Amino acid sequence: MRRGLPADAFDGRPHIAIANTASDLTPCNMHLDEVAEHVKRGVWEAGGIPLNLPVVSLGETQVRPTAMLWRNMAAMATEEMLRANPIDGVVLLGGCDKTIPALLMAAASVDLPAVVVPGGPMLTGHFRGAALGCGTDVWKLSEEVRAGNLTQAEFLRSESSMIRSKGHCNTMGTASTMGLLAEVLGMTLPGLAGTPAPDSRLLEGAHATGALAVEMVAVGRRPSTVLTRGSFLNAIVALAALGGSTNAVIHLLAIAGRLGVDLSQDDFDHTGSGVPLLVDLQPAGRHLMEDLYRAGGLHAVLNEVRDLLDPAAITVTGRPLVEALGDAKTYDREVIRSRRQPLQEDAGIAVLYGNLAPDGAVIKPAAASPHLLQHRGPAVVFDSIEDLHARIDDPDLEVIADSVLILRGCGPRGYPGMPEVSNMPLPAKLLAQGVRDMVRICDGRMSGTAYGSVVLHVAPEAAAGGPLGKVRTGDMIILDVPNRRLDIEVSAAELAARDLSHAAATAFARPDRGWQRLYVETVQQANTGADLDFLIGSSGHHVFRESH
Ligand code: FES
Ligand code: MG
Repeated sequence: MRRGLPADAFDGRPHIAIANTASDLTPCNMHLDEVAEHVKRGVWEAGGIPLNLPVVSLGETQVRPTAMLWRNMAAMATEEMLRANPIDGVVLLGGCDKTIPALLMAAASVDLPAVVVPGGPMLTGHFRGAALGCGTDVWKLSEEVRAGNLTQAEFLRSESSMIRSKGHCNTMGTASTMGLLAEVLGMTLPGLAGTPAPDSRLLEGAHATGALAVEMVAVGRRPSTVLTRGSFLNAIVALAALGGSTNAVIHLLAIAGRLGVDLSQDDFDHTGSGVPLLVDLQPAGRHLMEDLYRAGGLHAVLNEVRDLLDPAAITVTGRPLVEALGDAKTYDREVIRSRRQPLQEDAGIAVLYGNLAPDGAVIKPAAASPHLLQHRGPAVVFDSIEDLHARIDDPDLEVIADSVLILRGCGPRGYPGMPEVSNMPLPAKLLAQGVRDMVRICDGRMSGTAYGSVVLHVAPEAAAGGPLGKVRTGDMIILDVPNRRLDIEVSAAELAARDLSHAAATAFARPDRGWQRLYVETVQQANTGADLDFLIGSSGHHVFRESH
């Protein structure tokens, strides 16, 4: 089936797949077909044969019930197609939240030479003279509509003003975080991550990446040679300095799991704690991704924390990441702070343990209220997101500012898919009293654009028999972030004797067929990356029982 390819296309030259997540249903990735054309030019130029390979795409705002339910499916389907097809290397095109993690998981498992082109963020959009950030500002403006300060038509206008170009969300949400971390891991052409989607330099980088993929095949440079423990620790340092999404914890653990790299949730605490927040981007700060690029970009940020990076970790070029940084400078200190004047002294993620989270839970102390980091208060328990919505604004709900809101049934298995619901809305009556933050505990995730004193990713989740499923409204909960503890003041004997809340254990009917059944039966807990148990570890690219 040559389809116009010359005979010498099959003389042994490298066949480079372009694993392409372009889709009209993933608006953030719609431009990747154009990017693929430029990758192809580079592959041809270097003597390879480029082959477009459309793979499962996940649009964060489109896919229901939550795109996270399908991350492992996208990773598995891509892995199998990379192995099943006769290819020698692959260029991975992603952008929207789950797409780059899924592609990296797939590439790690197949271990063919692989390199990422991150699709890049949108340009900054303005409305009424002010810059708007994706996600964060939508919520603010919808409040304005409810308050009668903005008409529905103006609101829609603000939306098209905000989403004015191709690319993914331009705040430091999960897409921006994972695009940048793909580079820190060593998996992109140095200097490419963070290039805005419409910028011609992205196409230039795509071209160079195509040529690089051919070279990587020639020398056999694979994910297993690039993705070492050192490169993951570098990513943890960068995650803190960038103020990136807590979702990166789960994604990095899942990618490491595919290679058997020794990385645990505790590494995020040990390596990330003490790393200062240097980047002033929404939601933690003020600016947007285009500002970060203009101010010097990722390399300028990494140069500030260069001494914390593993000098031995290499990139897809075969050279160390730290070498690629050169003397990258910062051109706007409002956007990228110096190490001496950080936005926050410690931006690391804390990992908590205790009788409420035997396998751990995470909190981003930099996003929490300092006065709540050590807190004791009575639990108010919700068994599902529906239960929460039904009762949270009930004037008769027994809740005080010191209460600890608990939402369960939102873990990988319980929901299923582990949605971003952990930053529960506060009770209306407390908001009216001026309360702006409360301790919240959940076995789900939180959007990269959200904030508050929220304990996330509690493991084991309620639906997996975790003690979160045994908490009763009124039990005293103790959060102690400095000492990394999360406990319930109930004796071990009483906790053991308690039945799991029926509602927590059976919040949703077990899916009886298809992907959801496979997912629920085999998904692992958040503390190891929420991958399927049988996908952990690498299986390489060898095809057994060739029939051609
Ligand atoms: Fe795609 Fe935000 S919706 S990155
Ligand atoms: Mg998101």
